[in-house]
Amino acid sequence: MDVFPVRRMRRYRRRIVQELFTETCVHVSDLVAPLFVDEGIDRPVPIGSMPGQARQPVGDLPAIAERIFDLGLNSAILFGIPKAKDAEASSAWAPDGVIQRSVRAMKEAAPDLVLCTDVCACEYTDHGHCGIVGQRCGEDDLLNDPSLELMNRIAVSHAEAGADIVAPSCMLDGMVGSIRAALDDSGFQDVLIMSYSSKFASGFYGPFREAADSGFSFGDRTTYQLNPSNAREALLESALDVEEGADILMVKPAGYYLDILSALREFGLPLAAFQVSGEYAMIRGAADQGWIDGRTAVMESLTCIRRAGADLVITYFAEEAAGWASEEQ
Ligand code: PBG
Ligand code: ZN
Repeated sequence: MDVFPVRRMRRYRRRIVQELFTETCVHVSDLVAPLFVDEGIDRPVPIGSMPGQARQPVGDLPAIAERIFDLGLNSAILFGIPKAKDAEASSAWAPDGVIQRSVRAMKEAAPDLVLCTDVCACEYTDHGHCGIVGQRCGEDDLLNDPSLELMNRIAVSHAEAGADIVAPSCMLDGMVGSIRAALDDSGFQDVLIMSYSSKFASGFYGPFREAADSGFSFGDRTTYQLNPSNAREALLESALDVEEGADILMVKPAGYYLDILSALREFGLPLAAFQVSGEYAMIRGAADQGWIDGRTAVMESLTCIRRAGADLVITYFAEEAAGWASEEQ
């Protein structure tokens, strides 16, 4: 190609025209703020593995809801830490459970804040797995069909409390269809399902398990979450969730799975990406050491996740990035 000096790409990068040619933006309204709510505390408790993040008491949620809404954030996703755990995760669907109380409190304070709830059992089971466990193929494992009933109950109880979007994260077969039917049967046709449709068994969830006290007492999650090496299987998982009636698909983690994200665009549904606890901890840790510039790295990571195809980005940087994103617009 003998085009130089006629074709000069650097013309696009003259400082004055740079913004004119920016292809991808991060809008505050695309960011979803995760919140950890702990039923057993009265004041915020910092999370050691996620500097800058804390578990919140239910009583602080009205103020937090107002604060994040005032920052321009449209939505939050809630994770609960209950006082009591058992083998059946019964505190997960109690009408006065930690998430049910949290949703009510936040809706009262900020009715226009979209509330998503994580629908899973691992914070509520004493064994730490995402549903009912029993014998499967000669070992203790997550049982699929008996756990679906539990997910239905959890999802309906969140909807009853006022959740706008339920987000099943357990990677059970049939979970979306089962929850859709249960919601519809209970009169919640308008509650959306954001499926953790392509969720990988990732080492990057480590800090979350400390944050949400959801580590497991035996085994691992590789018998239900996806193998990080498998792209076609990840597409098939999401395709099934489309058929079962998911409203929003999700890829999790985000930053190392951008190929999956861009491939899922073909389904035409809105796409979410979850920048998980380990991705947060790595950027935050390096920034706190002065090894990378935090603002640059955070905005770059979010921009690249959007560029790959995410409409929504769930990120622990949401509150900080809200300010930066507004400044850059
Ligand atoms: C619960 C759940 C997990 C995360 C979101 N929902 C943990 C897991 O699957 O082990 C991870 C979030 C994060 O790491 O930020 N199933
Ligand atoms: Zn779980």
